[in-house]
Parts: sequence; structure tokens; C-alpha cells
Amino acid sequence: MKSYIIEGGKRLEGTVKVSGSKNASLPILAATILNGNSNRLYNVPDIRDTKITLEILKLLGCKIKRNSGKIEINSKNITKTEIVDHLMRKMRSTVILAGALLGRFKEVTFSYPGGCDIGSRPIDLHLNAFKKLGVEITEEAGFIKCKANKIIGTNIDLDFPSVGATENIILATVLSEGTTVINNAAMEPEIVDLANYLKKMGAKIEGAGTISITIKGVKKLSGASYNIMPDRIEAGTLLCAVAGSGGSVTLNDVNPNHLSAVINKLEECGCEIEITNKTIFLKAPKRLKPLEIKTMPYPGFPTDLQQIFSAMLTKANGTSIIIENIFENRYKHLAELRKMGAKITTEGKTAIISGVRKLNSATTVCTDLRGGAALVIAGIMAKGKTKIEDIDYILRGYENIDAKLNSLGAKVKIIEEK
Ligand code: UD1
Repeated sequence: MKSYIIEGGKRLEGTVKVSGSKNASLPILAATILNGNSNRLYNVPDIRDTKITLEILKLLGCKIKRNSGKIEINSKNITKTEIVDHLMRKMRSTVILAGALLGRFKEVTFSYPGGCDIGSRPIDLHLNAFKKLGVEITEEAGFIKCKANKIIGTNIDLDFPSVGATENIILATVLSEGTTVINNAAMEPEIVDLANYLKKMGAKIEGAGTISITIKGVKKLSGASYNIMPDRIEAGTLLCAVAGSGGSVTLNDVNPNHLSAVINKLEECGCEIEITNKTIFLKAPKRLKPLEIKTMPYPGFPTDLQQIFSAMLTKANGTSIIIENIFENRYKHLAELRKMGAKITTEGKTAIISGVRKLNSATTVCTDLRGGAALVIAGIMAKGKTKIEDIDYILRGYENIDAKLNSLGAKVKIIEEK
């Protein structure tokens, strides 16, 4: 088991580069299946989730070459349409591969996806949309079999603007017959990144980034090169780590437009922020002011930064209130923060954080990806040595986060124990 040991109490300062987006990379890697051709992707983060996706693509029959930031994927010789169960269960976004395989081969077999335990996370919206597109779905011994003679475009009204379902519908319909309109579509920047990459292949997609997306099916897609967008969640995590430490930072290679709701909240709690088109500068006050945060689909405040902000606010000068509207079980990390002296109560969707002057060190356990990152921030803000056990969750989604934080003056070390 791997753990972090963090020597806290250091003020973080400096400049750091933001990596490519995990949540944009995963559907874009899946999209390479569609063209049966050669693809070149840049800025794909080297993290466990992208490694698992690449492993699945290889097992399906793709030829893959990775050379530091560049990945070449040739999907010409895909021979299988079944996603292996043991890798499917490792993360939730493997479900995105289903849309891409359906789009190209009109069939796919997969099992229920795994991922972080932050709620029930069903895939009913994905499956209902596939059915509307003419796909027959049968379930046998835990496997979901999808098959269609043709994918035929139609109107799909999503009950909730699910990011994954929106991506899956786009992937399943770019090679369909006719036109598909997704109403109540997710508007996240990662959807726009996926659509931009597919458009480079020759797909006809309009309205990505708005509530209504139109996809006109085409007969063929060509190979394409693409540079993945910056990771807005990693950017938010680094900003909160620095703000919690009372320091200052310049983030490079970031898109501040993707972080408007987050920047507003950081300003509200007293941070000074300056942005250019690719950088964000943050200078924290001596003590942060408390905040009220409600998580919402984009462009609202992202659920993926809720846990990160909750850690940062444990030492704010007053009481913060957080309402988690997207996932029903995204507060598991709070029990770990309490071990460090944080004063937090929860009632249903709401967490109430009464700011304390000091966090103490403790041995904590990672509960999920973003919850784990929240503990790292608390460790940086605490006095003494904090241990965070089972950091595999964090390594799923953050590229070199320890090295990045250390370059700003933190003291984060990985240890491995049996
Ligand atoms: C994506 C992101 C994740 C982020 C989430 C919300 C990736 C790889 N992951 O996850 O980091 O936290 O968006 O911004 O991009 N739901 C259903 N039925 C479905 C699908 C979803 O009820 O078929 C519910 C979920 O349980 C959840 C809500 O809808 O409560 C949002 O889920 P969704 O937007 O689909 O999130 P993901 O695509 O899984």
C-alpha cells in the first residue's frame, strides 16, 4: 500500500504547469475507436485512469505508441467489441467506450462500470439513450449486450445533464444515419473538447457547450491529431492548496474561462486573483473568509472541487456551508478531516464547516479521488506530519501532484508499505 507523508505548515509559493485534463482525455481516447485510422494525441496526463483506458484499447486491437506527452493510436485492426470485465470495473468512465464501439461496430458487450464510491452512479440515462437510438439491450450474467442493425438519429431529452451520457450519445451517433438532437445536454468544457476532436475527424456536431447539441451522422471519419485541454480540476486543486497555505502561485497552461465559478469563490474568500488567457495568479490573505457553496452542473460550481474547497475552508475565519447537489455520498472524507481537528457537521446534502485556527497532524485514509486530494491539502495546512494511506485513488487522477506541490515548497513524500 502506498501512502503520503506530509510535513505541513509550509507556505506554498511559485509557478506550476497544469497537466492535460483527465476527464477530457478519457472520452477522447475512446473516440479514437471510431475512425479505424491513425490518431495522435498530445497532453494526455500520465495517470492510472488513462493507463487503464489505453490497456483496454490495446486489448480491443488498437496499436498504441506512447512517447512522453504524445500518444499514437491506430484503431484500424480492432477485432473485439467486448470490454474485459476486470478493467471495466476499475473505473466508471470505461462506460464511454461503449458509445464509441456502438458507433463504429453497432455492437458492444460490457459489465457495470466501477469507480469511486461517491454515490449509486447508475447508467440508466446512457442505456435509455442507446435504446432510443434503436439499440437492443439484453443483460446476461452481469453483462450488458448492446446490438443494432443501424443507429438512427433521433431527439433525446436527458432527465439530467449527465456528462457521461452526453458524451456516450455523441460517440454513438457521429457515424449514425440521420440527425440526433440532445436536449438538456451537459455543457461541461470536456464535452466541447470531445466535440472539437471529433470535428477534426470530420464529424458534424453543433451546439457543444450549450444545452442542445445536434449531431448529423456522417459515413466515415478520418484520423486526427489533437491537443487535450488543461485539467480545470487539477488547476482548482492547486489553487486551493496554495490558498489554504496562505501562499501565492502562478498557474501556467490553464484556461481561466473554464474556472469562472471557482475563481469567483476564491475571490469571495479573500484571495487576490489575476488572469491572462493562459495563466492564473493567486495570492491568499492571512486568513480565508468563509464561503457558501452549492455544487451544480457546469457552468455552476463543480462537484469535483467541493471536497477540495471543504478542506481549504476548515481554517477559514467563520462558518462555511456546502450543499452537494450532484452526488449523494461525497462527504466521506469529512470524517478524516475531523481526525485532524476540523469542526464539521453534515445533514443530508449540507456540510457545515466551522473554521478552526489550527489543524493537527493525524493518520488518515483516502476515501476517493477528490476526497484524497482534499486530505493532501489538509496535510499541507496542518502542523506536523500527516499520513494519508491508500493513495492509489489520488494517483488515478492527478499527474505528479506530489512533485508539483513540492516544487512550490510543500513536503510531500510517497512511502510504500506491505
Ligand atoms: C463526470 C466526471 C466526474 C464529475 C461528474 C459530474 C468524467 C470521467 N467524470 O462523471 O468527475 O464528478 O461528471 O460533473 O468525466 N446519473 C444517473 N444516471 C446516469 C448517469 C448519471 O442517475 O445514467 C447521475 C449520477 O448518479 C450523478 C449525476 O447523474 O448523480 C451526474 O453524473 P454524470 O454527470 O453522469 O457524471 P459522470 O459522467 O459519471
